[in-house]
Amino acid sequence: MAKKQPLKSGEKILLGIFGVFFCLAAIGYVVLESVRLTSDKPMFTQTTFFNFSKEGKEGHGYYMKANCNACHRALRSGTSMGLSLDGVGSKRSVDWLEAFLLNPEQVYEGATIDHGFGKEAGRIVSRLSEDKIRPIAVFLSELKAIAGSSVSKIPPPERSEFIDGMVGSWAPEEWKEKYEDVRDRIKREEAEAAEEAVIDAR
Ligand code: HEC
Repeated sequence: MAKKQPLKSGEKILLGIFGVFFCLAAIGYVVLESVRLTSDKPMFTQTTFFNFSKEGKEGHGYYMKANCNACHRALRSGTSMGLSLDGVGSKRSVDWLEAFLLNPEQVYEGATIDHGFGKEAGRIVSRLSEDKIRPIAVFLSELKAIAGSSVSKIPPPERSEFIDGMVGSWAPEEWKEKYEDVRDRIKREEAEAAEEAVIDAR
């Protein structure tokens, strides 16, 4: 029988380093899991939500059938090849979504990757009959996100003095004319819509 060779010192050191890493990983895993199981706070805040209308539910059916999921993620299923569509309804209006599906390049004002004439998603959309596009747009517009999440265009309701101060002192002067604070814009748009409603009612 061959004599067992003792480990060389280099091997011992390597084995020791591996052992330390292994133990740290095991301890980390146990700590993480025990915190996760005993904590009453959720690990991740849910930032997207939905409440479907009848047309939206119908649109979800068409969306699933057309296999938009092959590239998009929504409602916890799908892939991340294209954009995640959870919360898209807080960023885009139903009319925007419908217009995008029908004329992606025009709406994007530039080249698209997959939507558009002759492209993969474009072909899928063009095979859908026209009465299905609107319900799909309605379905997408009902995928909402809470204000302040990365998929919402509305910032969180509370103001940050620090950020306001930084913008106030560092933003170039011309930005103040060029851009409008999105919170002021939302207020202005709401006021305008209310005014229009009053005029329409007359
Ligand atoms: C082959 C992959 C693919 C498929 C299939 C696909 N998409 Fe897309 N989608 C994309 C990509 C990529 C973009 C980004 C725009 C672009 O470059 O085409 C996008 C963008 C979008 C947007 C715009 C989102 C935004 O906020 O700008 C919507 C809405 C959308 N897709 C809906 C759909 C629907 C509905 C279907 C099914 C009928 C579908 N997509 C099928 C890849 C795909």
